[in-house]
Amino acid sequence: MKKFIILSFAVSIILSCGTETDLTFSKDIAPIIYKNCTPCHRSGGAAPFSLTTFNQVNRKKNTILGVTQSGLMPPWPADINYTHFLDEKYLSEGDKQKIKDWINGGAPQGDIIHLPSLPLFNNFSRVGNPDTTVWFDSILVTGNSRDKFYIATLPIELDERKYVRAMEFLPNENNLVHHMNGRLLNYEDGAKTSITQGNRLLNLELPETDYIQQFNALQLANDNGTRPSQINSAVNYLPGVEAQIYPKGIGGFTMNKKSILTADDIHFGPIPQDKWDHSRVNIFFSKEPPKRPINEVMLGTNGASKIIPPLVVPPNKVTQHTSFLKIPEDISILTINPHMHLLGKSFKAYAIKPNKDTIRLISIPKWDFRWQYFYTFPKMLKVPAGSIVYIEAEFDNTIENQNNPNNPPIEVRERLNNGGAGMRTTDEMLQFIITWLPYQEGDENVSLKVK
Ligand code: HEC
Repeated sequence: MKKFIILSFAVSIILSCGTETDLTFSKDIAPIIYKNCTPCHRSGGAAPFSLTTFNQVNRKKNTILGVTQSGLMPPWPADINYTHFLDEKYLSEGDKQKIKDWINGGAPQGDIIHLPSLPLFNNFSRVGNPDTTVWFDSILVTGNSRDKFYIATLPIELDERKYVRAMEFLPNENNLVHHMNGRLLNYEDGAKTSITQGNRLLNLELPETDYIQQFNALQLANDNGTRPSQINSAVNYLPGVEAQIYPKGIGGFTMNKKSILTADDIHFGPIPQDKWDHSRVNIFFSKEPPKRPINEVMLGTNGASKIIPPLVVPPNKVTQHTSFLKIPEDISILTINPHMHLLGKSFKAYAIKPNKDTIRLISIPKWDFRWQYFYTFPKMLKVPAGSIVYIEAEFDNTIENQNNPNNPPIEVRERLNNGGAGMRTTDEMLQFIITWLPYQEGDENVSLKVK
């Protein structure tokens, strides 16, 4: 009898190390998933499958264990130990440990009485009620399981010039569009007779000569051949980030009666079957003119500073490049966006003040072309006149780079602007976009979070 007690005691010790856990889905894990995963992993969300119920999570638990421990999910390539941004997506070490212990402990459901209610999501807007909604032409996304990159254009006519507070991009189908960067071409009255005659779509992987010809067929220029004025980053989209909106009084722009929104580029993820994309743009007008319209400056490819050494990446090599730009006046930085293509390996940006202090901007130790966020600082970041912004980037043109489009690798280089036709995905780019305002006293205390 005594022997049996000792034995069963030993068995229960063995059980409790490794196969049992007090953690349950309902009480401990659901709150972590609902907050960090469900915003994308839900019906109508950007991810390919839902994580909203115990069964859905339980079915995927092995991959969830892998992607949460490796840091692949939630996706956030920026190093949170270097700088912080709004809406950061990452799991605390404590939450990671809980997920691991729960899965290794058999992933019990627990009493559903503890289950928190699912957060509410609006599939038609993350911002509010739009004043108007406009649609891109449908795009057939072929199911050849490859990434695809296009320029898509959307002509918009208004009765009168209007002030815009924000634009929001929404794909009709989750998990189809992976990212899109939208620029608004604003035509002055009388500058362009028709904005609807040009082609509406350009494949960014065409061979060079076709590409330039097809770019011209988009007919984006004014009637006299000059380029219209443009609002860069009028709208950007990444799964989980539909609109770039700042607190009242910051940002916004004027939209002329005739304009063309160009998604350049729009990236569709790999899918196994043909699907139609029918993406839309919500526009939020404002009665007041923009008080502090934002400015953009870009370092690198086609930008205000040159890349050193020039961006040529020989086959089977990893190369390092830098670029720097002096800031002539006191500025307040709102948002930054590093941009590279498939060979990108790592990225870092910082500013050196005239007194030699460093202002950290961003570090991305492991570049992932799928997750090119526009990173907004929690508060405006002052960079004083005379500071120099530096970027440092690495490119990997070996076969170790799983995203290398060429096997065996071939020389890849940047392509400079050719009447705006500079962006084929299989060429490389190194850009760093800074969205800024002229500095005003007290800006460093202004929160950029929109309530
Ligand atoms: C910002 C949106 C977003 C968030 C937040 C997010 N995911 Fe994902 N997830 C995606 C997308 C999109 C994919 C499809 C793969 C891709 O595009 O990289 C994906 C893929 C996955 C996969 C499949 C990976 C594979 O290799 O097949 C798993 C598992 C996953 N996510 C789990 C999670 C978990 C767990 C969380 C929360 C801790 C989370 N995701 C948070 C967007 C998101």
